Amino acid sequence: MRHAAHFARLVALLVIVVVGFLLVRAKMVPKDFGVKGHFRLSAIADEAAREPRHIGSDACAECHDDIGAAWRAGKHHVPQCENCHGPGLLHTKVVAEDSTRGYPDKILTAFPKAINPGTGIRECRWCHLKTFERPSALKYIVSVQQHVEQHGGTYTSASRCIDCHDPHTAEVKR
Ligand code: HEC
Ligand code: HEC
Ligand code: HEC
Ligand code: HEC
Repeated sequence: MRHAAHFARLVALLVIVVVGFLLVRAKMVPKDFGVKGHFRLSAIADEAAREPRHIGSDACAECHDDIGAAWRAGKHHVPQCENCHGPGLLHTKVVAEDSTRGYPDKILTAFPKAINPGTGIRECRWCHLKTFERPSALKYIVSVQQHVEQHGGTYTSASRCIDCHDPHTAEVKR
């Protein structure tokens, strides 16, 4: 008999755990979860309502028309402005809403991340430094030092690609 009581208690515990789990689950899982698949259906509308952080190169070129024109006419129009400079939404808001604050000096201290001004080497490496997974059709350099010295430059740790290349046309500066 005493053994049966043990068993009953164990079953009761199991029932409490299972029912408890189902109750918590019913409370936590959103109503529209699983309607179309293993996700919350309203997540689609939530994501769609978010403001895009990228604005596209045409929008950049509306203000930076000289750079926009040079970029478009040059050999470096595959990488887009925001590939190198990062998403531009905050930058354009800052510029458009308060042009009196003396961008970039003051804005840079208030919004240091509004736009990435470009290091002139880091972003070039993202695409042009040869790595084994990068497509070999992309013109690449094997090492910064080797490339700089091959073209008559003096390599130091401060060497940058834009010492020689215009970032917007990829043209070698004369
Ligand atoms: C509403 C006009 C406007 C738009 C649109 C705009 N900019 Fe600017 N941008 C400015 C102004 C004004 C400055 C500050 C003066 C200058 O350097 O020409 C500036 C400065 C910059 C700078 C220099 C920042 C620094 O810290 O030196 C970069 C880089 C830049 N913009 C990139 C972009 C990119 C990329 C886009 C598109 C995503 C873009 N801008 C869109 C007006 C604009
Ligand atoms: C391949 C990377 C790359 C792309 C693509 C690129 N930029 Fe730049 N940009 C740079 C770098 C690097 C600098 C810094 C140049 C310097 O310090 O001399 C810069 C500087 C700038 C500046 C500020 C200095 C200046 O030259 O007046 C502006 C404004 C700018 N870019 C706008 C643009 C716009 C607009 C586009 C697209 C039409 C664009 N950039 C595309 C890398 C890029
Ligand atoms: C988002 C990727 C990307 C970034 C970042 C990038 N490039 Fe390029 N670059 C390309 C593509 C794509 C081409 C054209 C295709 C090709 O010829 O490989 C190109 C072409 C070039 C060329 C050869 C142009 C010619 O003569 O045909 C040079 C030089 C160059 N880039 C330099 C730079 C420098 C300097 C930077 C940094 C300021 C830079 N790139 C950043 C993608 C990129
Ligand atoms: C000392 C000057 C100098 C520096 C610094 C420099 N380059 Fe070059 N680069 C050149 C010259 C010159 C060419 C040949 C251009 C030509 O043939 O029209 C070239 C060509 C290229 C090419 C085309 C290669 C090909 O096979 O046709 C790419 C890509 C390139 N450079 C990327 C870069 C990158 C990325 C950096 C920074 C890591 C960089 N360069 C720094 C001078 C330089």
